[in-house]
Amino acid sequence: MNTKRLIIKNKIDDDKIEEAAQLLRKGEVVAFPTETVYGLGADATNEKAIDKIFKAKGRPSDNPLIVHIATKEQLFGLVANYPSYVEKLIDAFSPGPITYVLNSNEKVAANVTAGLETIGVRIPDDQIALALLKACAIPIAAPSANVSGKPSPTTVDHVLEDLDGKIAAVLGGCEAEVGVESTVVDCTGDIPLILRLGKVTKKDIEKIVGKVQVFSSSQGEVKKPKSPGLKYKHYAPEVPLLLIENSENIQSVINAEQKKNQRVGALVSSQTAQKLKADRFFLLGYKEEEMASNLYKLLRSIKKQDVDIVVCEYLPVEHVGNAVMDRLKRAATKII
Ligand code: TXA
Ligand code: MG
Repeated sequence: MNTKRLIIKNKIDDDKIEEAAQLLRKGEVVAFPTETVYGLGADATNEKAIDKIFKAKGRPSDNPLIVHIATKEQLFGLVANYPSYVEKLIDAFSPGPITYVLNSNEKVAANVTAGLETIGVRIPDDQIALALLKACAIPIAAPSANVSGKPSPTTVDHVLEDLDGKIAAVLGGCEAEVGVESTVVDCTGDIPLILRLGKVTKKDIEKIVGKVQVFSSSQGEVKKPKSPGLKYKHYAPEVPLLLIENSENIQSVINAEQKKNQRVGALVSSQTAQKLKADRFFLLGYKEEEMASNLYKLLRSIKKQDVDIVVCEYLPVEHVGNAVMDRLKRAATKII
């Protein structure tokens, strides 16, 4: 299959949006930008179209997809009963990097929700995404547009690296602004429960609704996963990644690996890099926001031909930093 490049440089290009919308309406799979990462979209009401997403990504069929829509009205058209705090959250954070897990009214194809009674829905805060969703006027299911297990894509090039030839088109815009996926919040109970950390933090949500819980793997995650996606390995770079809890130990770990003739890369903040000696640096930047937007690009840039192993530090966990640490823990081969 020849993957069409529909690249939008500056101003929104209605012809390209319409072409992508037509492909989606016909049951094809199209990658598109969102403010978090690039998504791999298909018509959420068309079971065969959704199958194509799972196939292109090599995604396990028990991992449900997030449904993207343009408006609050469309969102409520896909869900059954919900607690009253949901409207408050939507008014505060949507469009934005947050996904609500709500009781589904089963208007979408069964394979979108992987057989669950709930549905994940979000209104992305990206001009191209919103224009596309309005143009096709159907709910679009979209996981991140990467091959399963690899870091999520934040640019058109990342999407093509993984999916060129496997999807009908990529609608391209700028680099994704946030860089890590949306915060996923289970809103089926009396208290919102954060299933996946993202740019919208626990504190942000607490300010709107008071009490909020964060799901942790100690709560029986493996036996009965709340969010099926959390049990799979994610974001793995080409070489082993050691995450080092105590930053004072980083240099000695690097030295020990070098003694074993390993070429060692350091995936660290720009301030930490100044204090270290390594074979190669992958610089995350100074601030949490920068670190989030650089993370996946850097994980993808770590290549076997350059380094044998990468060490990474525990980063500050203010704001979106919590989400960055969460992804690093999932990407790590070992935490020491
Ligand atoms: O920022 C994002 O959310 C991006 C962009 C493209 O919107 N999408 C994304 O999709 O990250 P994906 O498929 O890579 O991750 C979706 C996560 C998975 O962990 C999945 O298990 C969870 O959301 N999820 C989806 N529907 C769910 C549901 N009904 N109940 C619990 N978890 C759900
Ligand atoms: Mg993903």
